[in-house]
Amino acid sequence: MPKIILTGDRPTGRLHIGHYVGSLRRRVQIQNAGDYDKMFVFIADAQALTDNADNPDKVRENVIEVALDYLSVGLDPAKTCIFIQSQIPELCELAFYYMNMVTVSRLQRNPTVKTEIQMRGFGGESIPVGFFTYPISQAADITAFEATIVPVGEDQKPMLEQTCEIVRRFNHIYGDTLVEPNILLPDNAACLRLPGTDGKAKMSKSLGNCIYLSDDAATLKKKVMSMYTDPEHVHVEDPGHLEGNAVFTYLDAFCKDEHFAAYWPDYDNLQALKDHYTRGGLGDMKVKKFLLKILDAELEPIRARRKEYEKDIPAVYQMLQRGSEEARQVAARTLDKVRHAMRIDYFNDTELIAQQAQKYQQQS
Ligand code: TRP
Repeated sequence: MPKIILTGDRPTGRLHIGHYVGSLRRRVQIQNAGDYDKMFVFIADAQALTDNADNPDKVRENVIEVALDYLSVGLDPAKTCIFIQSQIPELCELAFYYMNMVTVSRLQRNPTVKTEIQMRGFGGESIPVGFFTYPISQAADITAFEATIVPVGEDQKPMLEQTCEIVRRFNHIYGDTLVEPNILLPDNAACLRLPGTDGKAKMSKSLGNCIYLSDDAATLKKKVMSMYTDPEHVHVEDPGHLEGNAVFTYLDAFCKDEHFAAYWPDYDNLQALKDHYTRGGLGDMKVKKFLLKILDAELEPIRARRKEYEKDIPAVYQMLQRGSEEARQVAARTLDKVRHAMRIDYFNDTELIAQQAQKYQQQS
């Protein structure tokens, strides 16, 4: 079975370092290791519109931001097919047929849908139908490309489970047609859910606690230096706590032993630093400065690449257009298989035509 990687992001804002450690970094590693048959990365604008229907400009303007973020982290359009979801009409048709594979109560039980309903306060029945059914459209996104591996954050787990159910139900009814995907989660807890700079559970634009991939060096410095640490660590000699300490969670996500050799040879590794911090006698400022060096080293090449791509925005749109054309051909092949399996490819169905012809001949 070919190894096909696929994932996407909603264009509702620039991408931040939570996206980076949660999925982007992994995609680039996979891309460059080359141990796969094809990789697709897409901008889920149609999905973003399901809960931003009144804000089309936000979605429209963020398409290019996300594309620039993709290119700047090192996704390479020569290797990876980068496309825009709304430009692949085949996805809508697939979703339309998959709607018959899913019940209302199953959608209501989807934890992502459930929490999003609560969070966005649509409340019960006032949720837009398009938003309610977006797990089905996500199943179309994944199966259209016969993806076998989907690298996403933990929050997407219920979506992948629902996709697998749709695949199994479809294949059960119509015969083996669709491919079941596997989720690929980050392997480290810090990367699974990177907290905001304020220590809150999640980075989110509305909370203003994000470090964006496109933040300049001065902004990065300001954000790191004002990060939430341990409120009980008042004096340097006080023992510090690691639990809920955002600076240490970021170190878990970004720090490698080489960073100590390069920037802070007093310690061999992160464990030694943590031991000192919890013993007491280590100030937050020193740790923050170390984190800043690590983040700066990681983000500087990303910023530099972004600057280059920003110089030729029409070329970025062209790249997206070419990617979308390529993606559309792949999705169309899957749609053909689906129509064939569902036996709605009437004009290619010579057996059906012959049968019907015979039936009516016998009658006459
Ligand atoms: N729901 C995903 C998110 O909010 C975006 C997305 C849409 C996606 N379709 C997908 C991710 C298919 C992986 C595969 O981030």
